[in-house]
Amino acid sequence: MVCTTGSVAQTLPNPLVLTTGKRVQTARQWTEERRPELLKLFASEMYGQAPPRPERMRFAVVDEDRQALGGLATRKQVVIYYDGTPQGPKTDVLLYIPNQMKGPAPAIVGLNFWGNHTIHPDPGIRLAKSFVESGKNNPYIDLSCVQHNRATEACRGTNARQWPVEKILKAGYALVTAYREDVASDEAGSTLTTGVHQLFPAYQQRPDNFGTIGAWAWALSRIMDYLETDKAIDRKQVAVFGWSRLGKAALWAGASDPRFALVISHESGAGGAKLFHRGVGENIRRLCTVFPHWYAKSFRQYMDKDTLLPFDQHMVIGLIAPRPVYIGSAQDDKGADPAGEFASAVAATPVYRLFKTNGLPVSTLPPLNQSVQGQISYHIRPGGHDVTDYDWEQYLRFADKHFRPR
Ligand code: GCU
Repeated sequence: MVCTTGSVAQTLPNPLVLTTGKRVQTARQWTEERRPELLKLFASEMYGQAPPRPERMRFAVVDEDRQALGGLATRKQVVIYYDGTPQGPKTDVLLYIPNQMKGPAPAIVGLNFWGNHTIHPDPGIRLAKSFVESGKNNPYIDLSCVQHNRATEACRGTNARQWPVEKILKAGYALVTAYREDVASDEAGSTLTTGVHQLFPAYQQRPDNFGTIGAWAWALSRIMDYLETDKAIDRKQVAVFGWSRLGKAALWAGASDPRFALVISHESGAGGAKLFHRGVGENIRRLCTVFPHWYAKSFRQYMDKDTLLPFDQHMVIGLIAPRPVYIGSAQDDKGADPAGEFASAVAATPVYRLFKTNGLPVSTLPPLNQSVQGQISYHIRPGGHDVTDYDWEQYLRFADKHFRPR
C-alpha cells in the first residue's frame, strides 16, 4: 500500500495482515483476530490503557425542562459522579432532545472546548465550574468573559457559532455534550492527577498510561453508559462527534466502543485521522512535546519516526468498520494535512470491503465542497480549522442516510 508526499512514497502497514504474517480474508477473521490485536496495539503504543467503567459510578438528573428553546426541545442536565460521590470527579452532561419526535431520538454526542454554557445562550444551562482557558485573539471564541480562569454569565453562547443547536434538533437529533475540562485537564503541564485521572493513579505508573485523549474517549463511553439508561434516546443510533483534539478523542471512542453507531471526526489531524507516514503537517514529536499529556508515554518512542511507524491511523478508522465514519477536512488546515486525512480514509477502505460495504467510494481527493458519502465519507471545504454550518449540514445528511430508513 502506497501513499505519496510529492516525491516520497512510503509503505503503509497493512491493516489486513496479522502480526503472524497471516492475511485477513474474512470479516469474521477481522472481528475475531485482527481487531482485538489492533485495539491492543493502539492502547499499548499510543492512546494508553483505559480503565473499566467504575463500579460506583452514578448519574444524577439535576435539571429537566420540557419547554426549552421555546418548546423545541427538552433540556436535561445530568451529572456523572464517577466514584458515586459529589466530592469525586464529575462531569456535567447537557442534553437537548427534540420534542417533535414520536419515539426515542437518535443522538449526536460530542465534547465541547469551552463549557456547555458556551454552545447556546440558553440561560438554563449550568455554567461550567472547571478551569476555563483565557487569552486574547482566540479565533473561535471571545474569552474576555472568563475571569480568573472561571466562566461568568457573560460567557453564555460565546461559541454558539460552532454548534447549530436548533438545526440539529429540527433535523430530529438529540444533542449531547460535555466540557473537556470537566473530564480531564488540558492545561499545559497537566500532571494527569486531576479529573477522572485521580481515580486511576496506578494506570499512570505504566508506559501505556492513559492520557487526556484516552480520558476524553473513555468519558464519551461513560456518557454512552448514561444514554443507554435514558428512554428518550435511541441507544442504537448514537453518533460520536468531535473537532480537532476532541475529534482525535471521538475517533478513538468510536474505534474502541462499538456502541457508537456512527463516527464523525472533524479536522482531527495528527493523532486523529491523518496518516503519519506521509510526514506532512503536525508530527509525533510536536504532539508529544507540546501536548505531552495527550497520549501514553510509550508513544514518545516514535518521535521522529513518523514515516517508519509499525501502525498508522488508517487502522484506527478500520477499527470502526463496518460502522459509518465521516472524516472532515478544511483546505487551509495545513497542520492536519487534509490530503493525509483523506489518504487515511482511502487506506481504511479494504477493511470496510471485507464487510461488503463500499468504504470510501473514491480514491482521489474530491473537489472543494463536494461531500463523498459512502460507508466512509469525506469532504474538504475551503477555509481554515473551524466548524462551520457547511460541515454540520454534511454530517446531518450522513446521519440521515444511516439512521433513517429511506
Ligand atoms: C493544536 C494541535 C492540534 C489540535 C488543535 C486543536 O493545533 O497542534 O493537534 O488538533 O490544537 O485541538 O485545536
